[in-house]
Amino acid sequence: MNTATRTITLRSPDDCHLHLRDADMLKRVVNHSAREFARAVVMPNLKTPVTTVGLARDYRKRIQAAVDAHYSFDPLMTLYLTDNTQAKDITEAAACDWLVGAKLYPAGATTNSSSGVTSVVGLMPILEKMAETGMVLQVHGEVTDPHIDIFDREAVFIEQVLKPIVHELPELRIVLEHITTQHGVEFVQSSGDNIAGTLTPQHLLFNRNEIFRGGIRPHNYCLPVLKRETHRAALAKAATSGSPKFFLGTDSAPHTQDAKETACGCAGCYSAHAAMPMYTRLFEQYEALDKLEQFSSIAGARFYGLPLNQGRITLAKENWRVPDSYPVSSGKTLIPLFAGEQMDWKVA
Ligand code: DOR
Ligand code: ZN
Repeated sequence: MNTATRTITLRSPDDCHLHLRDADMLKRVVNHSAREFARAVVMPNLKTPVTTVGLARDYRKRIQAAVDAHYSFDPLMTLYLTDNTQAKDITEAAACDWLVGAKLYPAGATTNSSSGVTSVVGLMPILEKMAETGMVLQVHGEVTDPHIDIFDREAVFIEQVLKPIVHELPELRIVLEHITTQHGVEFVQSSGDNIAGTLTPQHLLFNRNEIFRGGIRPHNYCLPVLKRETHRAALAKAATSGSPKFFLGTDSAPHTQDAKETACGCAGCYSAHAAMPMYTRLFEQYEALDKLEQFSSIAGARFYGLPLNQGRITLAKENWRVPDSYPVSSGKTLIPLFAGEQMDWKVA
């Protein structure tokens, strides 16, 4: 930290949970991520889910082709688990160094999850194969039972689904993605070194009031939904603690404005345009700027067994205004998190 000029230089960070989509949207968003991050763990929930190594390889090539030549950005891919995933898919995936895990979406839990897993019991042979090969299981940790209150879905998932998996397969490497509750934090903290969690900028900076501040704000709606302040505070404490078990995963999830501002709007916050400035704001608020690099650039790499990035990123304490929107294509627009608002850290 250079206090005179108010800049902070970090090892290049990794975004350990990112949605890049495909086609025009991919071209629109990927360079926002490539500007800040050296690598990203790319989610597989395309409209046609990335269920095989072949589909992941093709998608990775489309991502690489969309990255501007002056950036060095390594997309690390994930497989989408379904009721039909085969053990041989896992064996094949585990042999690819650019494929770092498989994602469990409970069917119906979120965007493009209709092909997700309906029975975790049925998935056990696949999870056993993952444990055997050391492949990481990335988990969307929410139950889908409509009788369970939406604010309780993470805690119920941990008790009813995740703990039994860990009991059966204690060596399975698991990332509980986008943790939103104190319950999630405590689960990760009380588990072994093989279990970690990612934290998003919106869940760290906002509580659930931000969905309803002065009116309904669809661009602050994501899944798992924002929680009450006590939970946000627990997440912030975990992120800024320097623990190797919590690391950066934005869950940046672009949807066009029309898909968000409608009678039944899509879940997802777009944060890739200013992800590091948002996290830096939080770490400054918690007087923990000295812990930011551990969270953004070390803990995730160590968990995934990746070499630390050699590049550097510099952030300057400087005000700038987030654009109201970004154009996508054919007149469509993307509304970013903090649209039209002031950010106080800028990527230099
Ligand atoms: O809000 C979300 N949006 N949560 C998810 O789990 C998926 C994501 C998306 O793909 O839009
Ligand atoms: Zn996600």
